[in-house]
Amino acid sequence: MKMANLLVISFMLCLGMLSTTIYNVKLIACASSNGISTRFYDFKVQTKRVTKLCNTKDIVTINGKFPGPVVYAQEDDRIIVKVTNKTPFNITIHWHGIRQQLSCWYDGPSYITQCPIQSGQSFTYNFTVAKQKGTFFWHAHVSWLRGTAYGAMVVYPKANVHYPFKNPYQEHIILLGEYWIKDLQEIEHSTLASGGAPPRADAFTINGHPGPNYNCSTNDVYQLDVVPRKTYLLRLINAGLNTENFFAIANHKLTIVEADAEYTKPFTTDTVMLGPGQTLNVLVTADQPVGKYSMAVAPYKSGRIVHYQNVSAIACFNYLGAASDSLYLPAKLPKLDDKLAVKTVMDGLRSLNQVDVFKEIDKNLFITIGLNVQKCHSKTPKKNCQAMNNGVLAASMNNISFVNPNISILEAYYKNKKGSYTEDFPDRPSKFYNFVNGAPNNIPHDTQSLNGTRTKVLEYGSKVQLIFQDTGTVNIENHPMHFHGHSFYVVGYGTGNYNPQTAKFNLVDPPYMSTIGVPVGGWAAIRFVANNPGVWYMHCHIDIHQSWGLGMVFIVYNGKGESESLPSPPADLPQC
Ligand code: C2O
Repeated sequence: MKMANLLVISFMLCLGMLSTTIYNVKLIACASSNGISTRFYDFKVQTKRVTKLCNTKDIVTINGKFPGPVVYAQEDDRIIVKVTNKTPFNITIHWHGIRQQLSCWYDGPSYITQCPIQSGQSFTYNFTVAKQKGTFFWHAHVSWLRGTAYGAMVVYPKANVHYPFKNPYQEHIILLGEYWIKDLQEIEHSTLASGGAPPRADAFTINGHPGPNYNCSTNDVYQLDVVPRKTYLLRLINAGLNTENFFAIANHKLTIVEADAEYTKPFTTDTVMLGPGQTLNVLVTADQPVGKYSMAVAPYKSGRIVHYQNVSAIACFNYLGAASDSLYLPAKLPKLDDKLAVKTVMDGLRSLNQVDVFKEIDKNLFITIGLNVQKCHSKTPKKNCQAMNNGVLAASMNNISFVNPNISILEAYYKNKKGSYTEDFPDRPSKFYNFVNGAPNNIPHDTQSLNGTRTKVLEYGSKVQLIFQDTGTVNIENHPMHFHGHSFYVVGYGTGNYNPQTAKFNLVDPPYMSTIGVPVGGWAAIRFVANNPGVWYMHCHIDIHQSWGLGMVFIVYNGKGESESLPSPPADLPQC
C-alpha cells in the first residue's frame, strides 16, 4: 500500500505531527495530549465520468475516486472527515461497522440520524474507533448512491500490538461491488415506480474492475501481484447493492481470521460468501506453481425467483514470474444456490477467544423478515403494479414496512418533536404460523404489510435477545441484517421455523458481528446490550429490500450521567 493512498489533509489544532509506519502503511496524524491520534480526511462528493462495459456515464464519487479513498486509523483514534457536497444530489456517509459510542449524530443513515447534506453544503463527521480494529468500510447512506460512493476503512491495532497470527507479507483490500450501466438513482426510482423487481447488475466488480468476462472489459481487470511462498492478508468487503456473493481464488485456500472487524478462530475453506455489508479478513499463501490464477466473484442465489447477474467478475492473482500471456486458471465456485457452502463457512465463524455472553435476558424480541406484495392502488396498474398478481413489491419486519420520515428521527427524538415516528414497533408478529412453508404465503392472499415509521424503545443497558425469522411470504431468501451502533453475538441459527425447544445456542465462542446473513428460509438469534444511547437503524443490507421497507429503528435511552448520555448535536448538523 502506498503513501499516496493516504488522504490526510488539514492539520488544524495539531499539538504535534506524528508519523508511524505500521504494516507497511504510513499513518500521519496529530498527536494529542492523551496519546490518541486524530486522523483528518477531506471528502469532496463529486461526480466523475467513467467508461465501463462500452458505456460512459457520470457516477457519484468521493474525490473523483472509484472505489473511494481508504480511511486509515489505529484503535482508539479519533477520525474527523469533512464531507463537502459538490453534486446536485443529497448525500450522507455512514461508517459501516463503527459502533459510534456516544456519537450517534455522526452515524450517517439519512433520515435516521441526520438530514442529508444538501448540494453545496458540508458536514464534518467526528467520531472515535474506541476498542475497535479491523476491516470496515464507509458508504453513502441515501438512495442507492452507495453503489458507487464507497471505500474501505482499515483500523490497525495499537502500536506494538500484534495480530493473533503470523504477520502477513502484505495486506490488500478487495472490495466487491456491482456496476450498472444506467444511472443508479434512476434505476431506484423507476424500480419503485414500477412496483416490480429491479434490473440485475450489469457486472460484478473487484476493486471497481469487472474483469474479462464482460463486454469491452478485457483490460479492465484488477491484478494482485504475489511473491511465491509469501502469505497475504486480504481484507474482503462486500460493498455491492443487491447481491450476496461467493468469492474464491483458483487452487488456493482461504483462512478466515476476522469477520466484521472481530478476530475469529482461523478457519480454512475453498470459498467464502459475503452478503452486502459483510467483511472478512482471510489469509492466503502463494503456494502454487508460478502462474496466473483467477479471483472470482459470483452470486449466491438464495432467492428462487430473483434474477441475478450470473457472469462472474474475475481479478488476477498473479505470481511474479508468470508469463504475461498465460491464461488465468479458472476458480471453482460453488453452485449458485449452494446453501451448504454458506452454512459451512458460518459454522466455521467462532470468536477467537471464549466470550462472556449474558444469560439473563431483559427483552426478548421475535422479528419476522421478508418480502410482501401490496395491493395495487394505481390507476395505471400496467405501469405501476408489475409484481405478481398485479401487486406492488414491498418488504417488512414483523410485517411493517419501514417508511423514511422527512426529518431525522434522532433530531425529532432529541428535541422531543412528536409526529414523525411512533414507538410501537411490536416485540413479535401479530400472528404465529408456519412462517417458512405455511399460509398465508399464497399470493395474493394476505401478503400485505402495514406501512409505518415505528421504533422500539430500549432502556439503557437492556440485555436483548432478538430472533430473526425469514418468511416464505412471496419468497424465502438469505437477508444480511445489519445493526448500527452495536455489535451482537450470533448465538444461534438454523433452517425452518425457530423452535426454542430444539434450537442449539453457542454461548461459548459465538462470533461478534454487525451484519448477520439470516439463512434462507431459516432464523438467526442475536444478543446485544443496548449500551449506546441514540437512534439506531436495523435493516437488510440488500438495498432494494431496504427501499421496500425491510428496516426498523431502535431508540436507546440515556443511562446515568455523562458517560451514558448522548451529547448535544453538532452545530453544523444538516437541516432537511
Ligand atoms: Cu452499511 Cu445502514 O448500512
